[in-house]
Formats: sequence, structure tokens, C-alpha cells
Amino acid sequence: MLQSSRDLLGMSALDLTDIEAIFERADTVQHKEGPGRLRQYFGTKLLASFFFEPSLRTQASFEAAMLRLGGKVLGVGSANGSRANSSHEESMADAARVMSSFADLIVFRHSSPHALNVFVENSDVPVINAGNGNGVGAEHPSQALCDLYTIHKHFGRVHGLSVSLLGNLQKRAIRSLIAGLAKFEGMSLNVQDKLAFPLLEEDVNLMRQNGLKLNLFDRAEDVIASGDVIYHGGLTADWQTQLGEDHFLTAAKLRFAREHSIVMHPLPRPGSIAIDVDTTRHAKYFQCAANGVPVRMAVLESMLSRSMH
Ligand code: CP
Repeated sequence: MLQSSRDLLGMSALDLTDIEAIFERADTVQHKEGPGRLRQYFGTKLLASFFFEPSLRTQASFEAAMLRLGGKVLGVGSANGSRANSSHEESMADAARVMSSFADLIVFRHSSPHALNVFVENSDVPVINAGNGNGVGAEHPSQALCDLYTIHKHFGRVHGLSVSLLGNLQKRAIRSLIAGLAKFEGMSLNVQDKLAFPLLEEDVNLMRQNGLKLNLFDRAEDVIASGDVIYHGGLTADWQTQLGEDHFLTAAKLRFAREHSIVMHPLPRPGSIAIDVDTTRHAKYFQCAANGVPVRMAVLESMLSRSMH
């Protein structure tokens, strides 16, 4: 995988073969016996995580994945406590030069797509985008890989499924998911029309170019009723106010859902999914979070193994 791209900044770095190779590797990588050749190799490798925004799942699962591969993790702690915090006036370019002289691979999160680009341009080692804001230019590719893997594990395929999107359709996890789904055949997406935070024009264009069918509905319950996958991208309090209660998913609202449908969310879920959904047969968001470790093991293994061959 990722043969043509040093970094994993967005889903455009991956083709369908890459994604399927990650699925296959994620199925087996946890059961690798050590100390084998790979484990010895990863024992010399160092992952640094540099997060300017809070994270639970992405940071912890990348670190767990690296440790499970037999590698080591550089404990930077909060990037905001480093000199590269804007109030301390060290440039992102200098921070990248220094950090990349310490580690073999860096996982990076920042609220700004521009900050990520500057960091990547000045890093001597591969960088994984762990989220770079929301809206135009923002992505969260490793989240999309966890989402696609969870869908693949549940249905035995991704091709041909109908995916309903709720919440703010401009969030980075939704944007990377759309870019990932666009690589599969026969996909359709269902969204509510005239939302406060509709699909971005560039995402609609990407869908058109890749034959992804877009269905628009007047009511949120019709979106819920139309998906094999019901994916909630999340809300914040102000957005929730604008969307009203329509996009707050409850067990009662799942009476509209298809019998076999699954509910997914990148988490955290306040304001988007009620806890009474957790005990329904539809809930898959915690399974998706757990899949973060094997999927990220597969990603790290692929990116760090290049120099082995
Ligand atoms: N899904 C996700 O990105 O979660 P964190 O913000 O906790 O990393």
C-alpha cells in the first residue's frame, strides 16, 4: 500500500487495492507471533504523536498499535505545551525539522490544514494526518479506514451499500469517508436536503466523478430509513441548535431504520447519539473505535516497512 505517497494526508493517497490490503492485514496483524523478523525490525522504530487538538481514540490507538507491533512511542504529551504552540512563537516548520530528526514517523493533528501542510513540507519522515480541522482541505484518513473496515467486517463487503449521513456534512471524518466510499462500486449516499452544513461542492464533484449516487431527502427520518449504514459525523452544541433535534439519533428514531442497518460515529458522540442506542442491534461505533488498533497497526506496518524491502 501507499507505494506512491510518502505521507498519509488524505484518502487520495490510497487506491482500492491499498484499502483492501489494509483490511486483509488488519484481520491478521494482531495475531503476529513475536519475536519475528518484523517485530525485531519495529523494535528499532519510533513513532511520535504531535497533537495540537484533544484526542482520545486516534492518539491512543496509534500509540497502542505501534507498541503492539513491537515499536516504541515518543512521549511528546500535548503539542500545545511545546514551543510550537503559537503563543511560544516557534514556527511549525522548525518544529517539523526537529521532530522529524527524532522519530521515524509522525502522527499529527492540528485545527488548520495550512499548519499540516507546513509541517509535512518540513518533515524528513512520513506524516499521518490525524485530523486537520473541518471543511475545505480537512481530512481524517485513518478514521475513514477504521470506518470502512468496520463496514467491511459487518457486511462482508463495502461495494453496493447505501450509506446515510447525518449531522454536519463538512466534518473531516465525513469528508474522508466520502472519499473512501468513492473508491468502491455501486455506492449510494443519502443526505437531508437544505442542511445548515451541507456537503461541500468539492465532495459532490468527487461523488459525481466516481459514480457515487446522491439521494436527497426532505426529512431526517427518510435519511435514516434509506441506509444500510447510518453514519453520524457529529455535531457541536451550536450546530445542534441549528439542526434542531432532527439529527439527534435515539433508539426511538431507529424504528425508521432498516432491520439490518448499522449506526456508526467517529466519537465522541455528545449531542449526536443518545445512550439508549448503545443497546440496540444497530450500534457499531464502539466496535469501530476498537478496530482502530488493528487498522492502524496495518497502516503503520505498511508505512514503516518500506525501507525493509
Ligand atoms: N474519532 C476521533 O478522531 O476521535 P478522537 O478525537 O478521540 O481522536
